[in-house]
Amino acid sequence: MPELKEEMKVLVVGGGGREHAILEALSRSPYRPELFVTPGNPGMRDLAQVLPGDVMDFEGILETCKAEQIDFVVVSPDNPLCGGLVDYLEEEGFPCFGPIKKAARLEGSKAFAKAFMKEHGIPTASYEVFDSVAEAKAYIENMSEEDFPRVLKADGLALGKGVSICPDQSTALEDLKLIMEDHKFGTSGDKVVIEEFMTGPEVSLLCLSDGKDYKVLLSSMDHKAVGEGNVGPNTGGMGVVAPNPYLTKDLENQVVRTILEPTIRGMAKAGTPFKGCLFLGLMLTAEGPKVIEYNARFGDPEAEAILPMLKSDLLALLVACRKGNLADFEAEFYDGVSLTLMLCSEGYPGSYEKGKVIHFAPEFTEKLDRGQIHLYHSGTAWNEEQKAFVTNGGRVLAINARGKDLDEARALTYGSALEVCFDGVFYRQDIGLMAYPDK
Ligand code: AMP
Ligand code: GLY
Repeated sequence: MPELKEEMKVLVVGGGGREHAILEALSRSPYRPELFVTPGNPGMRDLAQVLPGDVMDFEGILETCKAEQIDFVVVSPDNPLCGGLVDYLEEEGFPCFGPIKKAARLEGSKAFAKAFMKEHGIPTASYEVFDSVAEAKAYIENMSEEDFPRVLKADGLALGKGVSICPDQSTALEDLKLIMEDHKFGTSGDKVVIEEFMTGPEVSLLCLSDGKDYKVLLSSMDHKAVGEGNVGPNTGGMGVVAPNPYLTKDLENQVVRTILEPTIRGMAKAGTPFKGCLFLGLMLTAEGPKVIEYNARFGDPEAEAILPMLKSDLLALLVACRKGNLADFEAEFYDGVSLTLMLCSEGYPGSYEKGKVIHFAPEFTEKLDRGQIHLYHSGTAWNEEQKAFVTNGGRVLAINARGKDLDEARALTYGSALEVCFDGVFYRQDIGLMAYPDK
């Protein structure tokens, strides 16, 4: 059992902006934990010891835990969670935050998640699952024009790209071929889910659970498409606003009653209690809130908007999820609006160049030092020759600021974005505006 103690050694597994935000929130803990991250990135060096590694090298991570005498491990990304890193480390005596493999199936298999929701009466799009191309094809060919749009999903993890909204039969057949015959997502596409197309505002609702109790964190809205007005291909997320004003208190209560509680209860009843961060991807349809998908982890960039708003001690909450005493803790947030903007490399989510030097204006650094804004490194590297951070990914940096309202949060975030530059930088100009349509 992990015990909260002064200067406990905490290892975060992961390497992007989300993990940077987790480390920053942990660093505010009154327990003053000694922080480690693997593989991390050089932007995290002020907060943690950055240890080389690979999130899927379970033995290597175990070695790190032993060598550094780690007290508590926070497993952050989907791949190691769905691959069973928590089970593996726990068996070796290292307590972890994060669901075991069987609980992470809520994210790792859409077919599992859909069957689970059906069994527990949890509202979601109606669907069919196929593991035979011929049957999936026949099903699509039998549909008439008014059955479209339809949504086609690869069963397994696909870097957030396994979902296609098919406007008509021929697109559905083409996408089916890409997933099941051309194996675009490898074995993740051995099964497909074909489901009803839902409409309504989207909400990300992250919740912590110890397997029986839960804490609902601040709601948020991701902006997945690359272009303003949600046009263009989907990305890992271009920005987030929190809270999400579409999720009124009444609707949140409805989500808790009809979705969150039955999910936590159902997983516990199945003998696979969900301990970790349960991320509900929701659509507020005319018939009420429905689940688009579950994730078994913090969202990225949701974490970069929600965690800076957390007043409570994140370390205490994460340890409580593992210990089973979450009910003894509160998750309190600051008032106001939090806005996170992703600065990206030209070409993303397609191909892009790396190694562009990142310049930060002195005004930017001053705001950071004063705590007026937050900066989370997502895809960056350190160039020793140039003594500078350089770009190393499609999503490069997340800038976050809080304001009393959306206008103030946007002014501070977008003003700060002008003070960071690298060759080919681009970002969406409209983060937050869709959540507050009167703006
Ligand atoms: P996912 O990777 O499951 O979050 O899906 C990516 C995006 O596809 C979601 O954020 C939605 O915008 C959209 N989407 C997924 N499933 C549906 C659905 N059944 N109806 C409408 N849109 C959907
Ligand atoms: N921002 C969506 C996700 O983390 O899956």
